[in-house]
Amino acid sequence: MSYKRILLKLSGESLMGDKQFGIDNNRIATYAREIKEVVESGVEVAIVIGGGNIFRGIQAVEGGMERTQGDYMGMLATVINSMALQAALEAIDVETRLQTAIEMKEIAEPFIKRKAVRHLEKGRVVIFGAGTGNPFFTTDTAASLRAIEIEADVILKGTRVDGIYTADPEKDANATKYATITFEEVYQKGLTVMDMTAFTLCNENKLPIIVFDMNTPGNLKKVIEKNSKIGTLVQF
Ligand code: GTP
Repeated sequence: MSYKRILLKLSGESLMGDKQFGIDNNRIATYAREIKEVVESGVEVAIVIGGGNIFRGIQAVEGGMERTQGDYMGMLATVINSMALQAALEAIDVETRLQTAIEMKEIAEPFIKRKAVRHLEKGRVVIFGAGTGNPFFTTDTAASLRAIEIEADVILKGTRVDGIYTADPEKDANATKYATITFEEVYQKGLTVMDMTAFTLCNENKLPIIVFDMNTPGNLKKVIEKNSKIGTLVQF
């Protein structure tokens, strides 16, 4: 049994592939093919992408920029990534709609929940750009918010690591991966899954999260199966 409606969260950095900046065409084409497979299996797919491969608000703030300015620039970066993914999907005949939290009607539809759900029901991939449209919120929070609004069954958070570990696996060789973990345990152990705002939004709205490695070929197709054992499932 697979999930029926998913929200896939991709980081902006993941689009860089082996590059230091921007968008790697091969990487985004690979993602598009994997997403197409999932759509063809009948799963409704919504996507939120970060913008860190183009602009990092935090670094701009460290350089003296006002936070709100940096955050809005970051939101625009997510729109660029969203348009790139939309183009990559359309290049392989996947129907898509892009909706943005900040109106830019010449480029994309404005975010309208009812339209988004209708697009999903028609089998279109819906990409949500410009985060939540507000400064001080991350794209993880945008992903949680949109997932709740469209009543997704689960958020799939694609990352570089293949799940949630007892410690940072890139620093601690003894770290072990959780197959499943509860929201309560994540709070108690002080683990980081998403930022606290995003995580709490999921917790309060009973939305499970799966953290998984998006860069292992075939993982996306596997992770949409319930009890797939790919990544870590955060549940209740
Ligand atoms: P249904 O009528 O439900 O099948 O959906 P639809 O998206 O095909 O209908 P619509 O006529 O709303 O959209 C047709 C095309 O115009 C789609 O590619 C939309 O993404 C696009 N579109 C709709 N509204 C806007 C908008 O405000 N701005 C931009 N740039 N494109 C839009």
